[in-house]
Amino acid sequence: MTLLGRELILGVGGGISAYKSAELLRRLQDIGFGVTVIPTRSSLNFVGSATWEALSGRPVNPNLWNNVHEVPHIKAARGADLIVVAPATADLIAKVANGFADDLLTSVISASVAPIVFVPAMHPEMWSNAATQENVAKLRKRNFLVIEPDEGRMTGEDFGIGRYPEISKIINEISVFAEINSDLLGKKILVTAGGTREALDPVRYIGNNSSGKQGYAIAKAARNRGAEVTLISANSHLPKIDGIRTLEVSSTQELQSALVAEFPSCDVLFMSAAVADARPLAPSSQKIKKSQLQTIELTQNEDLLAQASSNKRKDQILVAFAAETGAIDIEAAKVKLTNKGADLLYLNDVTDGAIFGKDQTSGVLINSDGSTLKCDIQDKDTLADLLLDHARNKLG
Ligand code: CTP
Repeated sequence: MTLLGRELILGVGGGISAYKSAELLRRLQDIGFGVTVIPTRSSLNFVGSATWEALSGRPVNPNLWNNVHEVPHIKAARGADLIVVAPATADLIAKVANGFADDLLTSVISASVAPIVFVPAMHPEMWSNAATQENVAKLRKRNFLVIEPDEGRMTGEDFGIGRYPEISKIINEISVFAEINSDLLGKKILVTAGGTREALDPVRYIGNNSSGKQGYAIAKAARNRGAEVTLISANSHLPKIDGIRTLEVSSTQELQSALVAEFPSCDVLFMSAAVADARPLAPSSQKIKKSQLQTIELTQNEDLLAQASSNKRKDQILVAFAAETGAIDIEAAKVKLTNKGADLLYLNDVTDGAIFGKDQTSGVLINSDGSTLKCDIQDKDTLADLLLDHARNKLG
């Protein structure tokens, strides 16, 4: 698993243009894929395993009969978000079109439900051969993307349609086909999620109802768009997300320390954690007897967002969240945004327990330029992408 968490299998067929897949591998890494190469046996006559291992940074196993106890074809098939076969020879296309699975690559393809892309490269006569064209049509009917080869000079003197396509054309077609949006590539996104807890004694705490769902949705969406994501999670029970660096905290002071360490290196901070505004002044190291539990003296926590904004560089973007009950007061929210020094603020209406722990949200997005956007009830995943769009626009 890479940091970004997008996994791709690059199947390499036995053609003279196999060397071009070395450049393709690099470009696939550039758009955020961890790449595992599965070469066919015959392709190793053109480019050896050492090249693929060095470029991918991963071991290469072309053989179905290695590590059989790990059932490698099923493991690889399940772990891949996308499979790209390049170059795809007439033989490979024929095998897959007809359901053959007699080596590791074709077995992985037959066991995978991931989107599959073929990048054919062969002599023009082989490409225009009726059998090849029928097989290509079969693959396309099954929703495989088969990229058209380029026209040009072949190995030797020949000329025609069959050349390995330009790498930029392959990347563009793959991005559209697999709906890959990499607009946050190279950006560092810091997300806080969940709710902080303030210990009263070793058994009790003051907490809140935040589940962390919105913050986790933002973290995942940012990862999917190519960002490097750090998630500071406070008491959320949601499962960890692959490809996201997750730091666990509990109290507001722990969250504060993590933020102080992480904020300087981020481009955008999404402050979606519900931070306890106050903590017991004198937490007890022993369980407090109920006879002594009449009042709890509190002391205010620092406003972490305001603290971050007072230290922020011009090129950093801060996104605040607010949860209000009763009538939504946009003017008051605008004041909150200004006071906290945020660039965007998403205002949730949590009257009667709405939003907390749910998969959907509704509210208003307020921009520091004064504009507002009403967000009707929608999945938190959808809102996550909308918030990322607005943050990215602010980044410029
Ligand atoms: N926040 C923070 N530190 C705090 C309290 C809140 O960083 N001590 C952040 C939250 O993560 C959120 C935003 O500030 O992004 C707004 O939180 P909210 O609780 O609505 O704001 P408050 O300043 O506590 O205002 P109110 O008095 O309305 O509760």
